Amino acid sequence: MSRSSCSPDSLSSVSHDLPSDADAGSALSWALGLLAGAEVDTPRLDAELLLCHALGWTRASLYAHPERLLSKEENERLRRLIMRRVQREPLAYLTKRKEFYGLEFLVDRRVLIPRPETELLVELAVARLRAMLPAMLRARLRTDPAPIVADVGTGCGAIAVSVAIQIPTAKVYALDVSPEALEVARVNCQRHGMMRHGMTRHGMTRHGVAGRVELLRGDLLEPLGERVDLVLANLPYIARSEFATLQPEIVEYEPRVALDGGQDGMDGIRCLLEQASEHLAPGASIMLEIGSDQGAVGRVLADRFFPNARIEVHPDYAGHDRVLEIDTAVSTGG
Ligand SMILES: C[S@@+](CC[C@H](N)C(=O)[O-])C[C@H]1O[C@@H](n2cnc3c(N)ncnc32)[C@H](O)[C@@H]1O
Repeated sequence: MSRSSCSPDSLSSVSHDLPSDADAGSALSWALGLLAGAEVDTPRLDAELLLCHALGWTRASLYAHPERLLSKEENERLRRLIMRRVQREPLAYLTKRKEFYGLEFLVDRRVLIPRPETELLVELAVARLRAMLPAMLRARLRTDPAPIVADVGTGCGAIAVSVAIQIPTAKVYALDVSPEALEVARVNCQRHGMMRHGMTRHGMTRHGVAGRVELLRGDLLEPLGERVDLVLANLPYIARSEFATLQPEIVEYEPRVALDGGQDGMDGIRCLLEQASEHLAPGASIMLEIGSDQGAVGRVLADRFFPNARIEVHPDYAGHDRVLEIDTAVSTGG
């Protein structure tokens, strides 16, 4: 199958109908033409992945057997997928999966699609928890030295599950205000063996009692019934003025409650910091994902609520502000 059979110049005239006798090669060219015409960022990759999804194939089989004819059902399945992508529905919602931190998660329109930059939050959290364990044991802070973590605004549960897998002694609360998001997180917890079912306590809406991850519904840290050693959060941080500049995949499909951070993008973070002190165990840390230009304002906020803590802004691999860390174990004496 030719990789250059479809030049962008010839794309606007591509028919929306896929011929009923299409083989894999011509179906790929057809899909590529439509996606490039719709100004999708990565038309070839998306065409390949959607064709593989429709056929239940790997990309290797696609290139090994371009002559394979599509059945009527496969033809129709592909046509529908491509039409949805032409409308700029995100690829991950069409395939219903997204890889994060080496694990596969169910995603659909009930949740934000986890982004690669959020893996930095998990990396920093895992390092912080590993560093905490010996000190917890030495200080005999608890009979059970398992660190307690809260993932606030868990969405599909990617952060909570990844941390729980990396730190097998950790107990992780996964909190979200959205019941729909918690339904998705529950599937992902089950998929990764993080949950068992049980009764509710405290009259809260609970979507299962966890062996490893416990799902709680409510506003920010409010549903927590105990103090935690580490608060993680990737709360909405997009400023309202930025919405007009976002891609259709984001504004038209991802849940507004997962994106809208208020006037300056900091509403959720500000409220969380306001609530935090009464939910933190001694020496606890807070790690918050922030927007690429929110480091300075994040520092000011953190300093207002935790004037004696060590405050650090970690850049992501592109050099942008990404994680705001507040370490209450280290006093700056300020
Ligand atoms: C940016 S998404 C992050 C989802 C997931 N943690 C991730 O990193 O992919 C923000 C999440 O915060 C939740 N959220 C928004 N406001 C909240 C609040 N006040 N309390 C709890 N969760 C909230 C949204 O429902 C959404 O799932």
